Amino acid sequence: MGELKQYTVQDVKSANDDRMRTMLIIYDKVYDLTDFLNEHPGGEEILLDHGGKDASEDFDDVGHSTDAHELMEKYLVGEIVESERRNLTKKSGWKPGYNSTNPEKEKYVQGPGTPFVAFAGAVILAAIALFYFFN
Ligand code: HEM
Repeated sequence: MGELKQYTVQDVKSANDDRMRTMLIIYDKVYDLTDFLNEHPGGEEILLDHGGKDASEDFDDVGHSTDAHELMEKYLVGEIVESERRNLTKKSGWKPGYNSTNPEKEKYVQGPGTPFVAFAGAVILAAIALFYFFN
């Protein structure tokens, strides 16, 4: 995927208010759902309600299927500028890729993330430093 268009949180909000689009944010990615409103199995009202806002948690709470996650790629229009990203981690147990009939998709299942590896590394380094300090 190439460079994504950068949006501020305010840009997304303005698009809803001024340009009559239904755009929202899910995990720092910006989706334009204007053309999807009629097709959304969960109904258009809920998308309109979340228009201009961050819908990450609510989107997750619904437990959207793998199909839904694939579909959303189609409506991806950009991402939030780096300084305004929330960098939320998806709920543990969020395994959109898990699909027993298509094991290929399991690649989406997340292992321990980078923050954990960095933390473990820092603990080990601290232990080594203390060891040398007291000897
Ligand atoms: C790119 C954005 C979205 C896409 C592509 C999408 C797609 C879908 C699809 C395909 C379904 C059918 C069930 C499934 O396959 O999981 C669904 C259901 C649903 N969606 Fe979304 N959705 C999106 C955003 C949202 C958002 C922001 C909300 C807000 C909370 C939401 C709320 C719901 C609800 C309440 C249902 C019905 C669940 C049920 O009937 O059990 N969706 N959506």
